[in-house]
This record gives sequence, structure tokens and C-alpha cells, in this order.
Amino acid sequence: MKNYENVMVFNHPLINHKVAILRNEKTAMKEFRELIEEITMVMSYEAFKDAPTETVKVKTPLEVCDQKMIMDNSIAIIPILRAGLGMVNGVHNIFPSARVGHIGMYRDEETAIPHEYYCKLPEGIENMTAILLDPMLATGGSACDAITALKNRGVKKIKFMAIIGAPEGLAKVAETHPDVQIYVSTLDRQLNENYYILPGLGDAGDRLFGTK
Ligand code: PRP
Ligand code: URA
Repeated sequence: MKNYENVMVFNHPLINHKVAILRNEKTAMKEFRELIEEITMVMSYEAFKDAPTETVKVKTPLEVCDQKMIMDNSIAIIPILRAGLGMVNGVHNIFPSARVGHIGMYRDEETAIPHEYYCKLPEGIENMTAILLDPMLATGGSACDAITALKNRGVKKIKFMAIIGAPEGLAKVAETHPDVQIYVSTLDRQLNENYYILPGLGDAGDRLFGTK
């Protein structure tokens, strides 16, 4: 795949180890959920490297010092329903005061064309960095439309984080939204005829919530 300036593929040994367990068809729902959360948490350290900070005064037991903290109301986590929900705690564990919005999208089973069915965003989202979460980036349709939905609501700074990406989908999002920084833990080989990622991990929503 071509190199895109706005794409970061982690390919990190700690993450690769967890992805191996995640992919395994024998991995049960509880462990699957925990792994999605853990991988998201590790990826968040990179994704939040440029989070807006302000300097505050802190009184330690010894003296008063200047210390940087992340600015209030500056970050919004936006999971794409359903599967993105599995990633929310991964960010919240390290940044509990982040606001949470939700965008509901489902792919048509035949065409893989996404449809938005829900959108509720935090007040003041226009001035926040929105980090959009979805474990699977397949054709890229859901991610592209969710990003457009945020832009239409005035969001200026958007990041997108996925656990597994297919080359086709990654290229589509990177080219359609060059202003969006994309973080993917693992780049897979291709899509199959049903628009599922190979080797992938199957249906992330079903594995997270036990619906199949
Ligand atoms: C899955 C996944 C992504 C989307 C990715 O959701 O969670 O949102 O497919 O595919 P794309 O890149 O081709 O758009 P799905 O539509 O199956 O809904 P669900 O999360 O409710 O199961
Ligand atoms: N959605 C999933 O959950 N898995 C895929 O492989 C593609 C889309």
C-alpha cells in the first residue's frame, strides 16, 4: 500500500501479541472485550501526543510548581456504534474526563454501503478534538461517512482510530479526508467478496456483544 502522511500503522510487538489473541476464533467474549480495550489504551498514548494542554500551578508537599494538564472540554471520544463502543473504556481509562458522543452506522449486508441511524454529540464539539473509534476499517465507508458527519457539525480537528484496517479502506479514508490523522494497529491483507477483512477477526460487533 502507498504511504500516506496521515496514516500511522503501529505494528508494535505488544499490540501484535494482543491482536494474535484477538483474531483467534477460540477467544471468548470477555477476553475479546478486554483486548479491544487494552489495545485502544496503548494506541491512545500516541494519538493523544498532541492533546491541547494548559499550564497550571500545583502545590506539592514541598513547593508550588508549574505543571501541564490536558485542557478541560478539549477532547471528545466518538465511538461508531456498535463495535466502537468496545474501545471507549480504553480511552476513558487514561483520560476519564473526555466527553463521549455517539454515531450509529450500519453497513448494508449486500452492498456494504453505510447508513447513519443515530448521532448525539457533546455540546461545544466544534472546539474539541474528536477521536472517532471503530475497531474495523473495511471498505472505509463507515469511517468516511462518520468523519463527514462530524465535519458537517462543525468539528475541525478529527482523528480516527481502528484496530484492524484493510488496505482498500485505509486508502479511501486517507485520500477522502487528508486532514484526518488515522491510527491503525494492524494492516491486514484484503477484503473478501462480502467486504470482510482477511485474515481479520470476523464480525467485531458480534464478538464484542455475543449477538452470534
Ligand atoms: C462494522 C464495523 C464498522 C464497519 C466497517 O460495523 O464495526 O463500523 O462494519 O466496515 P466499512 O469500513 O466497510 O464501513 P457494522 O455495520 O457491521 O455494524 P455493527 O458495528 O453494528 O455490527
Ligand atoms: N466489520 C467487521 O466487524 N468485520 C469485518 O471484517 C468487516 C467489517
